[in-house]
Amino acid sequence: MTRSIRPLVAGNWKMNGVRADLAIAAEVAAGYDLALKSAVDLALCPPATLLYMMSAALLGSRIATGGQDCGVAASGAFTGEVSAAMLADSGATFAIVGHSERRALHGETNAVVRAKAQAAQAALLVPIVCVGETQAEREAGKALAVVRKQLRGSVPEGSKAATLVVAYEPVWAIGTGLTPTPADVGQMHEAIRAELARILGKPAAAGVRLLYGGSVKPGNAAELMSVAHVDGALVGGASLKAQDFLAIARACA
Ligand code: 13P
Repeated sequence: MTRSIRPLVAGNWKMNGVRADLAIAAEVAAGYDLALKSAVDLALCPPATLLYMMSAALLGSRIATGGQDCGVAASGAFTGEVSAAMLADSGATFAIVGHSERRALHGETNAVVRAKAQAAQAALLVPIVCVGETQAEREAGKALAVVRKQLRGSVPEGSKAATLVVAYEPVWAIGTGLTPTPADVGQMHEAIRAELARILGKPAAAGVRLLYGGSVKPGNAAELMSVAHVDGALVGGASLKAQDFLAIARACA
């Protein structure tokens, strides 16, 4: 944790959830008590089909919503795409961009991720820019270099502390139950903060929230969240269980 930064715990539902699952969001809202509200921000990023309904259901709860991706263009002939302005119109505050699943399965390059992050900022959304190395890259000792390069390529220059969130998600830790050691997370998050200082200048970089993602569960959250420069979590599977998500939030608080 960074003392001066209010932590953020964001749930990425990925391609999970139909209307009946809005009950999960309601359960999270019911458990987001005063103690939690005073200590940690929460966000849920459902599939685009649920975004408007979830945003409406969470009105007044102080829980934000976000999209999981956004188009580069503001509008136009892009069948299947959802623009950042559409996410904002559906009540979103955040847009995840450059998740490793999109980088790997949809061939998104750093340049595309940066364009999406810029599109999100233009629509007054806060992009959650995801970076992270593969297992092979870590084993080859290249994790820090890979993540630094991703940051240089995908973080919009001119971002401010309030207009950017960065999530470090080692690809090999996503959905596997594996996590890096706290020492490895600490080393990476310190390197991310330093690289952001080179890209954005020190004052902006000092305030950017750096989330850790990859197999965050109630059982490991406290240890991961106690690491320096870890300002919250990006949670996949455990965000589909309200009580697990709340327990992770409490570990941040
Ligand atoms: P898991 O928490 O299921 O490992 O997913 C992490 C993730 O990809 C969040 O974006």
